[in-house]
Amino acid sequence: MTIDEKKIILTVDDDPIILNQIMTILKEDYAIRPFTSGEAALKFLEGHSADLILLDCNMPGGMSGFDVLAKLQATAEYKNIPVIFLTGSVDGDDEVNALGLGAMDFLTKPIKDKSLVKRVSLQIELQEYRNELEQLVANRTEELREANDKLLEREKITLDLLARAGDLRDHDTGEHIMRTTNYVRTIAEDLVTHPQAGYELTPEHAEDIIEASKLHDIGKVAMPDNVLLKPGKLTADEFDIIKTHPLHGAKLLDDAVDKLGNDGLLREARNITLGHHEKWNGAGYPSGSKGPDTPLSARITAVADVFDALTSDRPYKKAFSNEDAFRILYEDAGSHFDPYLIEVVKRHEEDFENIRAGIGRK
Ligand code: C2E
Ligand code: SIN
Ligand code: FE
Repeated sequence: MTIDEKKIILTVDDDPIILNQIMTILKEDYAIRPFTSGEAALKFLEGHSADLILLDCNMPGGMSGFDVLAKLQATAEYKNIPVIFLTGSVDGDDEVNALGLGAMDFLTKPIKDKSLVKRVSLQIELQEYRNELEQLVANRTEELREANDKLLEREKITLDLLARAGDLRDHDTGEHIMRTTNYVRTIAEDLVTHPQAGYELTPEHAEDIIEASKLHDIGKVAMPDNVLLKPGKLTADEFDIIKTHPLHGAKLLDDAVDKLGNDGLLREARNITLGHHEKWNGAGYPSGSKGPDTPLSARITAVADVFDALTSDRPYKKAFSNEDAFRILYEDAGSHFDPYLIEVVKRHEEDFENIRAGIGRK
C-alpha cells in the first residue's frame, strides 16, 4: 500500500505517550495524524479529510472528547467521520454518553494492540460500505432524475405534436400555437410575479396553464374543411358548427382527465379547451358563462388567442396591425375580455410585439 492510498486516522489525546503508542501500532497500515488537543484536530480538519478519529475522552485544559464529538456531529462535512472513543476511566456512563453522542465504538486504556487494530479496521471497513452505498444511491437517484427528465421532455414533445396535428389544417407551421403559448406565458408569468386578489398563480400552476394552452383548439379536428377553411364569412349555420369545437375538444380531454385523476395540466387543458370562447359579459360560447365563472386559464387563453388571430392572416381575413389589435382588445375589456387581464396586457405591449415579430421568448 502506498502512502497516498493509506486511510487517514486522526488521533487526539493530551498524553503524548498514548499518541506514540497508537502511532507504533497503526502506522504500518494507516496514515496517522496525532494531535494533543481537540482544538488542533478540528483546525486540521478545516483543510484536510480524515477517515477515522481516535478521540480521548478526558483532556484537561481544553475541549473534552465530548465537546469535540458534539462539534463533529454538528458539522455536515465531519459528521460522517467515524469516531472511536478512548478513555482511562472505567466509568460506565462515559461509554453510554459517547455512543449516544454518535461515537461508533469505545476503547478503555490501557490500549491492547490487537483490540485497537481490530476495532479500527472494522470501523474503516464499515465506513467504506457506507460510502459505497451512498454512492450507489446517488448514482441511482441521478439515473432516475435523468429518466424522469426524459419522460417530461417526451410529454412536452407529444403535447406539441398533438397540438400541431390539431392545428395543421388552418395553420401549417405551428407558429400560431407557439405565439399563443407565448402570449399566455407573458400574462401568466405577470400574474405569478404581481399578486392580485382573485388572480393568484403559483409558478407550477402557471407552467401547467402555459403548456395546456397549446391544446386550446384541439376540438377543431372535428370541424369540416368546408367550414374551417372557408375563404369568406361564415353563415349562421356554419358558425353554429364552429361553436361546437370547444365541446369536441373537452370531450377528447374528459377521458384523459378521468384516467389521470387529479392532473393539473390535463385539467387546465380541459378548462381552456372548453372555455376559451366564453366572454366576460356572458355572450360567448358554448355555455355563456360569465366573468370569473369561466376558469382563469381559459380567460387568459381567450386574450392570447384573439390577439394572435387579429394579428394573423386567416382564410377569411387579413392581419390587423399591432396597434389595431391592441385597440380592439382594449375596447373589448369588460365585454369580451377579463378587464384585469387587459390591464396586464397593457403592461406588456412590447413583449406582445416581440412575440408577434418572432423575436420574443422560446
Ligand atoms: P380563429 O380564426 O383562430 O379566431 C379566434 C377568435 O379571434 C375568434 O373567435 C374571434 O373572437 C377573434 N377574431 C378573429 N378574427 C377577428 C376579427 O377580424 N375581428 C375581431 N374583433 N375578432 C376576431 P370566433 O369568432 O368565435 O371564431 C372561432 C373560429 O371560427 C375562428 O378561429 C375561425 O377558425 C372560425 N371563424 C370565425 N369567423 C370566421 C369566418 O368568417 N370565416 C371562416 N372561414 N372562419 C371563421
Ligand atoms: C401559421 O401557419 O401558424 C401562421 C399563420 C398565422 O399567421 O396565423
Ligand atoms: Fe378556438
